[in-house]
Amino acid sequence: MPITLSVIKADIGGYVGHSSIHPALIEKAQEMLDKARSQGTLVDFHVTHVGDDLELIMTHEFGENNEGIHKLAWDVFLAGTEVARKLKLYGAGQDLLSDSFAGNVRGMGPGVAEMEIEERPSEPVIVFMADKTSAGAWNLPLYKMFADPFNTAGLVIAESMHRGFAFEIQDVREHKKIVLNAPEETYDLLMFMGAPGRYAVKRVSSRMSGETAAVSSTERLSQIAGRYVGKDDPVLVVRCQGNFPAVGEVLEPFTTPFLVEGWMRGSHQGPLMPCALRDANPSRFDGPPRVVSAGFQLAEGKLVGPRDMFDDPSFDAAREQANTVANYMRSHGPFEPHRLPLEELEYTTMPAIMERLKGRWVAV
Ligand code: 13P
Ligand code: 13P
Ligand code: MG
Ligand code: MG
Repeated sequence: MPITLSVIKADIGGYVGHSSIHPALIEKAQEMLDKARSQGTLVDFHVTHVGDDLELIMTHEFGENNEGIHKLAWDVFLAGTEVARKLKLYGAGQDLLSDSFAGNVRGMGPGVAEMEIEERPSEPVIVFMADKTSAGAWNLPLYKMFADPFNTAGLVIAESMHRGFAFEIQDVREHKKIVLNAPEETYDLLMFMGAPGRYAVKRVSSRMSGETAAVSSTERLSQIAGRYVGKDDPVLVVRCQGNFPAVGEVLEPFTTPFLVEGWMRGSHQGPLMPCALRDANPSRFDGPPRVVSAGFQLAEGKLVGPRDMFDDPSFDAAREQANTVANYMRSHGPFEPHRLPLEELEYTTMPAIMERLKGRWVAV
């Protein structure tokens, strides 16, 4: 029986401000998913958070895009929003962009990453979750994991990976997708992956077996809402070992705290800091952006775990570098490239300023 791993997430209220989540929201979600597990809807689940984003990690036997599973997640977010309203948490219901559920949470605000798999004799998976950044943040680490032999030794020395991986790239503006193959199309691939504001990797598969290796959430909140409501704060699920990169190869890209868009008001470039789950409370200028990773071994759909994969001193140097880069980027204040370019800016007073000053512009 194939098993589906569904990670569905939303910001339904921050505590304090956008920095973290109140334990009552986690408890509410656990209570509801526990009920769904005892009724047989879910095989297993784990609830966690990164910053102000509530993360529902679920396993079940109903496949991807299943209405019942999506409705369950939606109901958890609605019930959590009620709790958030009572506590007057910040931005209660922030990512719920629709009043009524219509079969699928895609396009309604929550982020979704799902994969239906045939569980292997041993199935290590890592769920990455980020806060204060956007959907394209996974492009760079996915390229390194699945296409860069300087990161992933297995691409060169493991028979099972030598044929490379296929990348499904979504154009998040035009709502189109294309599949490109590494290694022979890497220069084309990088043209798109290197522009993460517009192109985001949705799925990576093994070219040898066709199996799904990774899936991410690519929902662009501002595109759905037509205005700034919060950052996408995306998730990524990666299978490890065997035909896929080893656990250490999957974690390796995060030893560089590369720059992503997000941070304060979703409008700045800043370093993505890998941190332990307990440290996923971005507070400095509402950041810097965070990524956490929860590792599991699947056993007949049971989530054995999580292991907190970045809770390891070998990521201390990345965290230190992230703080140094954060200071450097912050020193630019309201100047680009710390502030996002005008066309990417999530928040903007520009139209109002232009209107007020329109009579004062003169030809040069
Ligand atoms: P696999 O061959 O199972 O991927 O093991 C390799 C390994 O773990 C080395 O890091
Ligand atoms: P979130 O997207 O995490 O809610 O953050 C929004 C924000 O504007 C932080 O400054
Ligand atoms: Mg928020
Ligand atoms: Mg958030």
